[in-house]
Amino acid sequence: MFVTFEGLDFSGKSTQATILVEKLKQQRHNVVHFLREPGGTTISERIRDLLLDKQNLEMSDAAELLLFSAARAQLVKEVIIPALQRGEIVICDRYYDSTTAYQGYGRGINLDAVKSINRLATAGTDPDITFFVDIPVEEIERRKQKAGMTFDRMESSGRAFYERVLQGYRGIAQSEAHRFFTLDGTAGEKEIAADIWKVVEKKLSVKNQHK
Ligand code: TYD
Repeated sequence: MFVTFEGLDFSGKSTQATILVEKLKQQRHNVVHFLREPGGTTISERIRDLLLDKQNLEMSDAAELLLFSAARAQLVKEVIIPALQRGEIVICDRYYDSTTAYQGYGRGINLDAVKSINRLATAGTDPDITFFVDIPVEEIERRKQKAGMTFDRMESSGRAFYERVLQGYRGIAQSEAHRFFTLDGTAGEKEIAADIWKVVEKKLSVKNQHK
């Protein structure tokens, strides 16, 4: 089973991914892989450093798209496909929907080109379930201020960019409704986690019946 988490930075998706991984580990004997993108392999982590380094402000949109995709291609080949072939569970914090939302809708790169590159990078490996934590940009800005942290290169993009990314995600959630579950990111952490668990439990029981 392959589950991905999507949403804007500070949406709380990483917290939810962590809660799900802990729950799966408690309840099942299957191996659970917890990955985050970009990253997860030696090559992908090095590409991550390039992508998030604030020094690299001159990075072109096309270079950004191809680097995220290169990091993903390595992760898919080295970790995700072998794990799924062994029947293990893979939970990924971000996957190719991030590329469609951030590089496609956010940066404005041609969506057909993004789609082809996504397919190439993933060898057509689609998630069974994608949880999209939907939260207004104003709430993200509030959380960012409260955290008082310094921002990486991607997080330094402006508000209009994040609005486009959010609208992009909402559009993807509609067109990929068979695997997307949208969660209200302003709801309580426990409430969101309970909704996620219901969906995952159901998927696991269906998978077990087909064994
Ligand atoms: P990260 O610190 O992992 O942020 P988060 O906790 O929000 O996932 O940084 C990843 C950043 O890269 C984040 O701003 C989203 C962006 N990103 C893309 O623009 N395209 C992509 O394909 C991926 C995977 C991430």
